[in-house]
Amino acid sequence: MDLKINIGNIQLPNPVGTASGTFGFGEEYGELLDLSQLGAIYTKALTPMPRDGNAVPRLVETPSGILNSIGLANPGIEKFLSDKVPFLETVKCPVILNVSGSTEADYKEVIERTDNLECIDAYEINISCPNVKHGGLAFGTDPIQVENLTGKLRKLTVKPLIVKLTPNVTDISVIAKAAEAGGADSISCINTVRGMVIDTKRKQSVIPAGISGLSGPAIRPVGVAAAYTVSRAVKIPVVGLGGIMSADDAIQYLLAGASAIQVGTGLFVDPLLPIKVLNGIQQYMKENQLEKISDFHTFIN
Ligand SMILES: Cc1cc2nc3c(=O)[nH]c(=O)nc-3n(C[C@H](O)[C@H](O)[C@H](O)COP(=O)(O)O)c2cc1C
Repeated sequence: MDLKINIGNIQLPNPVGTASGTFGFGEEYGELLDLSQLGAIYTKALTPMPRDGNAVPRLVETPSGILNSIGLANPGIEKFLSDKVPFLETVKCPVILNVSGSTEADYKEVIERTDNLECIDAYEINISCPNVKHGGLAFGTDPIQVENLTGKLRKLTVKPLIVKLTPNVTDISVIAKAAEAGGADSISCINTVRGMVIDTKRKQSVIPAGISGLSGPAIRPVGVAAAYTVSRAVKIPVVGLGGIMSADDAIQYLLAGASAIQVGTGLFVDPLLPIKVLNGIQQYMKENQLEKISDFHTFIN
């Protein structure tokens, strides 16, 4: 059976990756699992300058999920180059750099300063970030901004651009089409879902930042529906994520139309989950006589 998938001009050895922000830059997990078995590592967000992130607590458990407002804490480009790149150069699976920012210039700077690195195979553009120049509304909620930003980043690199969509919009297919029109090679969906938890004794949001991002099994049906909708709206491959806790969950995404998947919050329960998911996908393909990943897409209209 053939597990390989193509995204733009690169090939992933298999569809199972690790979601941005739940796997750091891979170093710590490298002690727990064999990174060479992964389809790809999607790194933590990178912004030009280092960010400490939001005030704590920035993570709280919810029914079937977690709510977080990390605030894109990351080392910034300088420290990424000196401290993270030497490790990433040793990694034997594709590495996809998650690019974030508060302005268009931030996204451009991250790509311009990392495009020469051979250890980076592709970019995942996190457009769920608030755009400070547009009153803090997320880039990813406005199709015009999405097409513009994607088009500008397209000119800076020949590496694949995977545009990562927020589900916090009225019609995700409009945003997906805008990214495709801007030159995206793939769409990943979904980022976290807006949520809030209130401490009734303190009469305050548990997370000081207030409305935060919900992830985990609670959002899986939202993610599967997004993968289904987006894969029918665009011609480029879709990477599905949100609440994958087992091979069966991942298979739902593939049947919905995704060509690859990412394991995120599930890693906090079981760091070996990506390998188990990969084994489960292979088993399912054997049992159902599927020869390649696109065969998953032949069942559901
Ligand atoms: C603690 C945490 C940090 C995250 N950081 C990022 C990030 O830096 N960039 C990004 O694009 N998504 C980030 N995400 C979103 C995840 O990559 C993923 O889209 C979301 O959690 C849904 O998948 P899951 O339910 O499998 O976790 C983060 C999620 C969590 C839980």
